Amino acid sequence: MQFKSRTHTCGELRKKNIGKKVVLNGWVNTRRDLGGVIFIDLRDRYGITQIVFEPQHSPESHNSAKELRTEYVISIEGVVEKRSEGTINPSLETGMIDVRVDNLQILNSAKTPPFLIEDNIDTNEETRLKYRFLDLRRPELQKNLTLRHKMYQTVRKYFDKNNFVEIETPVLMKSTPEGARDYLVPSRVHRGKFYALPQSPQTYKQLLMISGFDRYFQIVKCFRDEDLRADRQPEFTQIDVEMSFVQQEDVFLIVEGLMKDLYKNIWNKKLQTPLQRLTFADAMEKYGSDKPDLRFDLQMVTLNDVFDKSEFRVFKDQIENKGIITGLKIPGCDVPASPAGGFTRNQLDVLTEFVKKLGAGGLIWMRVKEEGLEAPVAKFFTEKEKQNLINILSAKVGDLIFILTGPKIKTLSTMGSLRLEMAKRLKLIKADTPSSLIWVTDFPLFEWDEETKRYYAMHHPFTSPNQEDLKLLDKSPNEVRAKAYDLVLNGNEIAGGSIRIHDSSIQSKMFNALGITKEEAELKFGFLLNALKYGAPPHGGIAFGFDRIVMLFTNSQSIRDVIAFPKTSSGISLMDDCPSDVSEEQLKELHLKIKN
Ligand code: AMO
Repeated sequence: MQFKSRTHTCGELRKKNIGKKVVLNGWVNTRRDLGGVIFIDLRDRYGITQIVFEPQHSPESHNSAKELRTEYVISIEGVVEKRSEGTINPSLETGMIDVRVDNLQILNSAKTPPFLIEDNIDTNEETRLKYRFLDLRRPELQKNLTLRHKMYQTVRKYFDKNNFVEIETPVLMKSTPEGARDYLVPSRVHRGKFYALPQSPQTYKQLLMISGFDRYFQIVKCFRDEDLRADRQPEFTQIDVEMSFVQQEDVFLIVEGLMKDLYKNIWNKKLQTPLQRLTFADAMEKYGSDKPDLRFDLQMVTLNDVFDKSEFRVFKDQIENKGIITGLKIPGCDVPASPAGGFTRNQLDVLTEFVKKLGAGGLIWMRVKEEGLEAPVAKFFTEKEKQNLINILSAKVGDLIFILTGPKIKTLSTMGSLRLEMAKRLKLIKADTPSSLIWVTDFPLFEWDEETKRYYAMHHPFTSPNQEDLKLLDKSPNEVRAKAYDLVLNGNEIAGGSIRIHDSSIQSKMFNALGITKEEAELKFGFLLNALKYGAPPHGGIAFGFDRIVMLFTNSQSIRDVIAFPKTSSGISLMDDCPSDVSEEQLKELHLKIKN
């Protein structure tokens, strides 16, 4: 098809172009027929320009313009004109001008789209995902993906200038489970054998260190068959990083440098470094989370010392069973005139239900009054306990106190969730609240799984134990700390990494502690154990969840809003309807049979 190619984009024309003959190509965004004169907002990814069809000026193009509907693709030629005073549109960058059309060529028609191509539509997400190619025309998603592009460029530039080499690693690899379930790909040639899609390039990047590429990075797709949430996709992108001859501090320095560049290039903000650090133990005890949101400062306090002699049955049991009693003070929350407006009994019941749903036995609450603590359980506390409680929490009249008790990590996590819930209810995070970017360090090496009654690596099995805790590896694995760290932005884990084990005997010990037999370790990780014996340098690294960072930098609610073609929360692509059936023929070739 012959057509006139654009001389300008739809976001480009300004006052200085007035009088110029131009060609624009784009989509019909809206069309208004004002009894004779037809106005069209013409859209492309750069913006919107108003074009005008006048019957006296060009009867032919005016006539054709009557056919135009939204999303038709057109090419127009015309002259840029100054808009009259009353018709200037200050909300458009091109709002000073319009283009009076001499010629119109319709390049393609369009069916009526199932939703309006504009921001803030309330169409359900399924429809948007089914018609993702149209959804992506909306300015918000165009902005998100353009910003994502800008972030890729910042990342690549940063690592390049710091002497990192970008190396691609295989997408078809050996199944070496890292925590989640693998996606498997059956081999046609090798009957009964499977490739796995990488959950991350972890083993490859370690092998690259052994190969001498002492600074590696890659922007890479990872695949995990796990339960999905707003910040999780079955395939997602990591910025994967590994470095040789480094300690934790060196990794931190490189990561902080990247975050500084991203803050500057994307948010035009200066990030103060070094970043605040919290140990895992502190993060859990004070914020009830290993990814604490420090944009507001409600802090939990452990109350075991206050109640260590308590006769209150619920507390006594927990003190005896090495459980925890944790308290959270909500300042000024019981004063009806306060911004929170006080919390009614009914609201406290709702909060009790909230923690019960998370597995807590109940929620103890107390109001601090002039005359003392007011609470259903106050009668179980001695005067000394009440006074100590007020002192340790620095509680004042009008404050509200929550207490939870139970097994340590679970109870702290529940209080952490209540802390976030209260921040939401009290609107403690405002649009202009500064961001919070922190390190969480000293994670435990292992976590115990009650269901399978065994230890799992909290990060992954290649993470180095803390040197001082090595002696505990056999006897008290639960006390061993790891040289592992997470980077947390506004309560979201945006990156995780560790210093690795570079000694094959410690690696074998680690597998042993995880209940992986020698044979199993050889079968699954033999290649790595072997490589570690050929002069492996000390090394460590980190991987960023790129989609999550883009989500936070674009202020989006879900990572689906920053991925061009995402899956639903049940792992389906609604647009092309996958996963889908395959033919008997294909199954046969792969030596597979679907069981009924
Ligand atoms: P980890 O498993 O912590 O570490 O992953 C690194 C980061 O990736 C992001 N992430 C996800 N994002 C979207 N959807 C998912 N399903 C998903 N899962 C994880 C998170 C997380 O912080 N190989 C190690 C890194 C290392 O040790 O260097 C790893 O993959 O933001």
